[in-house]
Amino acid sequence: MNIILMGPPGAGKGTQAEKIKASYPIPHISTGDMFREAVSNGTPLGMEAKKYMDEGKLVPDEVTIGIVKERLMQPDCASGFLLDGFPRTVVQAEALDQLLAEIGKKLEAAINIQVPDEILIERVTGRVTCKECKTVYHLKFNPPAKENVCDRCGGELVARSDDRGDIVKKRLEVYNEQTNPLIEYYAKTGILYNIDGNRGTEEVFADIKKVLENLG
Ligand code: AP5
Ligand code: ZN
Repeated sequence: MNIILMGPPGAGKGTQAEKIKASYPIPHISTGDMFREAVSNGTPLGMEAKKYMDEGKLVPDEVTIGIVKERLMQPDCASGFLLDGFPRTVVQAEALDQLLAEIGKKLEAAINIQVPDEILIERVTGRVTCKECKTVYHLKFNPPAKENVCDRCGGELVARSDDRGDIVKKRLEVYNEQTNPLIEYYAKTGILYNIDGNRGTEEVFADIKKVLENLG
């Protein structure tokens, strides 16, 4: 199963990816997570990516395409993959199509999670993530049992540095300008599935599951 998860910042891509992973054993490839890991490890890739992430801008296409290509060539992607947050520009989508054609694969579904802007801002600004196991919470919609402590591992919960009001606005602007055109791109190839993401996580997942079950 070769699928991509699309949607604006805070739409619930990461949250739904966790659920998909639990039902379908395919690797979850999040470019945002890959960049954040590189930033926390202080690698050259991380130092380059940080400049853009801190401003809510996209990391340049050539850098992003390079890391995804490398990841998709790993043996664990042989029987499928779930891309989250990639592609985000038409250039990235074209590069992905070309790479998949070269290795004899094809995208089967582009799942687009739709949520109104005002809800996105509330979701992103209330998000906290476990420093250790990376579990994502929301202070209002999905709070931990004990303030600032991860239910799963006891780790400390922290806000993402790009989840501040001014940067979130910029990320939404960038999404509308550069990523929104991909909806049309995938609609044309007949693999676009729009999902109403403005509901509870289980209801959203039930609809995603229906799409995946019908892929065969
Ligand atoms: P990335 O990490 O991909 O961030 P994003 O796309 O902005 O998405 P988010 O992680 O903010 O949101 P999400 O949709 O995963 O929502 P979540 O499930 O956490 O990218 C970060 C940066 O990296 C970019 O700005 C860019 O600089 C760079 N980058 C990454 N990919 C790139 C690329 N391809 N090209 C260039 N640059 C790239 O949910 C959000 C919150 O809402 C959580 O608190 C959650 O608990 C809550 N929530 C989720 N679902 C629900 C629900 N149904 N109801 C109530 N609350 C919910
Ligand atoms: Zn944890």
